[in-house]
Amino acid sequence: MQGSGKKINTEKDDGKIRALIARAMGEEDESAAVIEMLRDFRWNMTLYHCAIREVQTKFEVLDEELSISRARNPIDRIESRVKSPESIAGKLRRNNLGFSIKSMRENLNDIAGIRIICQYIDDIYTVANMLCKQDDITVVKIKDYIKDPKPNGYRSYHMVVEVPVFFSEQKHFVRVEVQFRTIAMDFWASLEHDIKYKKEIPDPELLAADLKECADIAYSLDVRMQSLRDKIL
Ligand code: GTP
Ligand code: MG
Repeated sequence: MQGSGKKINTEKDDGKIRALIARAMGEEDESAAVIEMLRDFRWNMTLYHCAIREVQTKFEVLDEELSISRARNPIDRIESRVKSPESIAGKLRRNNLGFSIKSMRENLNDIAGIRIICQYIDDIYTVANMLCKQDDITVVKIKDYIKDPKPNGYRSYHMVVEVPVFFSEQKHFVRVEVQFRTIAMDFWASLEHDIKYKKEIPDPELLAADLKECADIAYSLDVRMQSLRDKIL
C-alpha cells in the first residue's frame, strides 16, 4: 500500500480509465455517457482518497495521545491505498456485479483501504475499539482473523467503517476497509502474498503446509513478545 497523499486523476490516467469504462459500457471512448461516467468516477475516487485521510488522521491522533499517556506508540506504521480502476472493474466482473458507480459504492467495501501495523496483539484491539467508539464512525463489518485465523494461517483484524467526508455542499458517507496487523502478521502476509503469485511452485501442498507453520511461528512470537512486554511494563 502507498500513501494516500499522491495526486490522482492525471490526464495520462484518464485515457486508461476512459478506455476501461468504454469497454465495460460497450460504448465509444468519446461518447457522452463515457465522459460523464469518467467525471463521476474521478469525483468518487477523490472521495475515497479523502476518506482515507480522515481515518488515517484519527489513528495518528490516537497514537500520539497514547504515546504520552502510556509512554509508548501502539502503532508501528500506517499504509494505505485506493484500489486501482482495473481492480475495481475486475472485482465487479468476478462477482457478476454491474459496472456502475452505484454498484461500486454499494458493493465494494475495500476501494479505500488502510492498514494499521501495531506493535503488539493487544494494541490492535485497543486502537480498533477506540476508533469504533468515535461518534462519527459507523462500524459496518468486523472479521477477526486473529481469533479465527484463515485455514492457510492468515491473521489480521479486519473492519469496514463508514466515515463522513465533508465537501462544500454536502457530507458523504464513505466506506473504508481497515486491516489491523502486528509487525509479525504483516511480515507473514506480505511474503505469503508475494509467494502466492509466483508462477512455478513445485509442490504447492508442501508450500501451503510450510506457510501455515510459519504463520503459527509468527503468532507464537507475537504472544511471547507481548508476555515479555507485560513483565516489563
Ligand atoms: P476480497 O474480495 O479479497 O477483498 O475478500 P473478502 O471481502 O472476502 O475479505 P477478506 O477479509 O477475506 O480479505 C480482504 C483482504 O485481506 C484481502 O484483499 C487481503 O488484503 C487480505 N487477505 C485476506 N486473506 C489473505 C491471505 O490469505 N493472505 C494475504 N496475504 N492477505 C489476505
Ligand atoms: Mg480486498
